[in-house]
Amino acid sequence: MPIKLVTTVADLHAESARLLTGKRGTSQGLVPTMGALHEGHAALARAAVGQNDVVVASIFVNPLQFGDATDLDRYPRTLDADLALLEAQGVDLAFAPAVEEVYPGGEPLVRITSGAMGEKWEGVSRPGHFDGALTVVAKLLHYGIPGTGLPAGEGAEGGLPAYRAYFGQKDAQQLALVRRMVADLNFPVDIVGVPTVRSADGLALSSRNRFLSDDEREAALVLSRALRLLEERAKAREPLDLESALAMVESHPLVSVDYFDVVDPGTLEPLAENCRETPFRGEALALIAAKVGPVRLIDNMPLSS
Ligand code: PAF
Repeated sequence: MPIKLVTTVADLHAESARLLTGKRGTSQGLVPTMGALHEGHAALARAAVGQNDVVVASIFVNPLQFGDATDLDRYPRTLDADLALLEAQGVDLAFAPAVEEVYPGGEPLVRITSGAMGEKWEGVSRPGHFDGALTVVAKLLHYGIPGTGLPAGEGAEGGLPAYRAYFGQKDAQQLALVRRMVADLNFPVDIVGVPTVRSADGLALSSRNRFLSDDEREAALVLSRALRLLEERAKAREPLDLESALAMVESHPLVSVDYFDVVDPGTLEPLAENCRETPFRGEALALIAAKVGPVRLIDNMPLSS
């Protein structure tokens, strides 16, 4: 079925209702994006299409989560290619609103605060970023609640259709914060984390990779190699020896590490004990951020033994 593009919340509700009408036991999936879609987003869309009867993807470059107006202006806008990619995955509806549709009164006075969890890691170099991201995610999650446009009595038997929203594990801090927001504020949605998609040589897919020169792209591979090393040590229940993995990354002349640590996947607090001499046990998340030439990249790896 060809994808349908809508740009207003009213049309989103009307089209979603049209697709859901008459279906029983239905579910709706939401895939929030900022466009510039790549294979990583395609994986989110495929996961949503595989688990839901109706799938909506949003494409909205959210000014609230950019610290710098130049970054916002430079952010790639590729609507036609994005629609083609979403359609190829079987997404039903694309919601691509203008800024005025999402923020009709200008910048919102009341926002979501990401608290201490949003101030660490990425939050250090991007102050306010997660508050802006969570605020728009809260709005998008509300827009996407299935059944909003259905006439009374329509919808799944015994209540509203199930509702799931899909986020990439690649942005691990964002995913952890979205889960926390949904739990803390009782949003009626299940959050599904989708594993990071990597190119064959290990580089995590990112819209920023397009800014890497050939040499920088080659250098960037050291990030995923270091993460894989930790993954192997964790599986083998060896000490993670983070220092040696860090030294490996830092030895590369084009790479400058911002942070590299092993954290609790829920709270994102460092797990210092597991990093050094003690054999690794349990579940953790290795986080890395580095500048490769002028391009800042992030990556992560779930660790388990
Ligand atoms: O991950 C992103 O693309 C954005 O942060 C999101 C979740 C779409 C909110 O703008």
